[in-house]
Amino acid sequence: MAVQISPSILSADFSRLADEAAAVSNADWLHVDVMDNHFVPNLTLGLPVVESLLKATSTPIDCHLMIEDPDRWAPAYAEAGAGSVTVHIEAAKAPVRTLRQIRSAGARAGLALNPATAVEPYEDLLGEIDMLLLMTVEPGFGGQRFLDVVLPKVRRSRDLIAAHGGQVWLQVDGGVSAETIERCAEAGADVFVAGSAVYGADDPAKAVDALRSLAEGASAS
Ligand code: DX5
Ligand code: ZN
Repeated sequence: MAVQISPSILSADFSRLADEAAAVSNADWLHVDVMDNHFVPNLTLGLPVVESLLKATSTPIDCHLMIEDPDRWAPAYAEAGAGSVTVHIEAAKAPVRTLRQIRSAGARAGLALNPATAVEPYEDLLGEIDMLLLMTVEPGFGGQRFLDVVLPKVRRSRDLIAAHGGQVWLQVDGGVSAETIERCAEAGADVFVAGSAVYGADDPAKAVDALRSLAEGASAS
């Protein structure tokens, strides 16, 4: 299980996205939060910005769609060249079809669950996905406090994934920082989104390295 770090550009300077992407070239992914002011109260960016960002960076893009109609939009992000596209189960109306479309467009397919959404009803979907995203805050904003209440679900998800062959990555998103990342890694997460903990640091690349080594130390133990 390799640790991967995915800095969220939600906490970056949106007027300098190419530079902000370059500032974390040691990261595995660049996490892009697409919010539509309907599924979540916040509004961020959409496909045109992702297309521009794809031209401006060689770091793979990890698109997290917090939008009301992911079935309509998710395949386009995959076709544009995003390496990973994640949709929320609370929003998708035809998740199996949408996840298959993401994969057939050449991207990794991700399924996201809000803090209060149980993982067990979706066990049969594990074969349809490459990554399970467990929100560790209510989605919508960066800089929120990590919700420890999600940790038992991280553990149960890791067990379900192991029972299904262990191929699916387990991502945590929200409030992940030097204070909380070890708890997530111990519970079985292997992909870590961090917005404010990376872009709020004086040296974002150093913050990525520090988070990575904390997670590696905790998941090895
Ligand atoms: C929140 C977003 C996160 C956000 C995380 O809804 O999905 O990706 O950027 O920000 P931090 O790491 O500051 O909690
Ligand atoms: Zn996110």
